[in-house]
Amino acid sequence: MLYHIIAASEDRIALSFCSGLLLNDRYRLTECLYQDGGIHQIWRAIDLQLQTPVVVKALDFGALHNAERRRVMQHEYNLMTQAAHLYVAQVYELMPGEDRFYFVMESFQADLLTFLGVHPSNPSWLLDAMIQVLGALEHGHALGMTHRDVKPRNIFVNFDGKNFTAKLGDFESAVCFDDRGNPAHSTDDLWFRGTPYYMSPEKLELYCMGALLGSYRMRFSMEAASDLYAVASVLKELSASQVFPPQFDEILRKAIEEDPGKRYATAAEFGRALQALL
Ligand SMILES: Nc1ncnc2c1ncn2[C@@H]1O[C@H](COP(=O)(O)OP(=O)(O)OP(=O)(O)O)[C@@H](O)[C@H]1O
Ligand SMILES: [Mg+2]
Repeated sequence: MLYHIIAASEDRIALSFCSGLLLNDRYRLTECLYQDGGIHQIWRAIDLQLQTPVVVKALDFGALHNAERRRVMQHEYNLMTQAAHLYVAQVYELMPGEDRFYFVMESFQADLLTFLGVHPSNPSWLLDAMIQVLGALEHGHALGMTHRDVKPRNIFVNFDGKNFTAKLGDFESAVCFDDRGNPAHSTDDLWFRGTPYYMSPEKLELYCMGALLGSYRMRFSMEAASDLYAVASVLKELSASQVFPPQFDEILRKAIEEDPGKRYATAAEFGRALQALL
């Protein structure tokens, strides 16, 4: 049997994911890449119609009937669709069913952290990757969207032996702001998002205060600046023990200035500074 029933409640039956399972008569699951404590599963699959590899991001059984988790996954899919760009991981279709809730997306070899763990480090790949991510952020920021969780595990890469491509993924924490700079959401669930290690000092401060106070509203400008700070933190983390041109340290220092007013003002400006090193 290709799948097994793992629970039945009332008249609903939930089905687990497993290797070999055929979804929507089209996607054959091949390998589970990642499981997030009962919330998400990430599967490699083959799109039988197009004969290409894809990846399926699915709500795990534990989260399947949690309305908030479903809303967050739908939100991620919607924002990735809106943010469509050369350097944003592409999403293909959302299947918001009662027995399975998942979306299908572009397949990558690995996330940046895993990739650099396997391939010998290369400064130009790292610069390329971050320039591409800054391109994705520039596009998102122009739409009023901030990512809020830029980190090596959320940057997905492909390498064919010659060309290196990096794209921004995992838009679960992303948010779109309205014209007045307020997040366009009706609940508080998405206020406190991001990974503290990569957060700008000013956001971290608000994050801690917010966690104490329960609720606050983040402005677009702070979140956009924090995205850029996260890029700089990733660069700093991954560039250790590699040899870069001397101007690199200067760029990094400017990008992680304590005072946000002294940092790069836009993703495009930061990207141009890195581009000049190649
Ligand atoms: N399209 C993809 N191609 C290849 N690997 C992927 C893809 N999507 C996700 N992964 C792998 O699965 C991991 C988790 O994916 P993602 O960040 O989207 O899920 P998540 O459940 O929101 O994770 P977390 O909450 O830990 O950030 C990634 O870090 C990456 O290693
Ligand atoms: Mg992630």
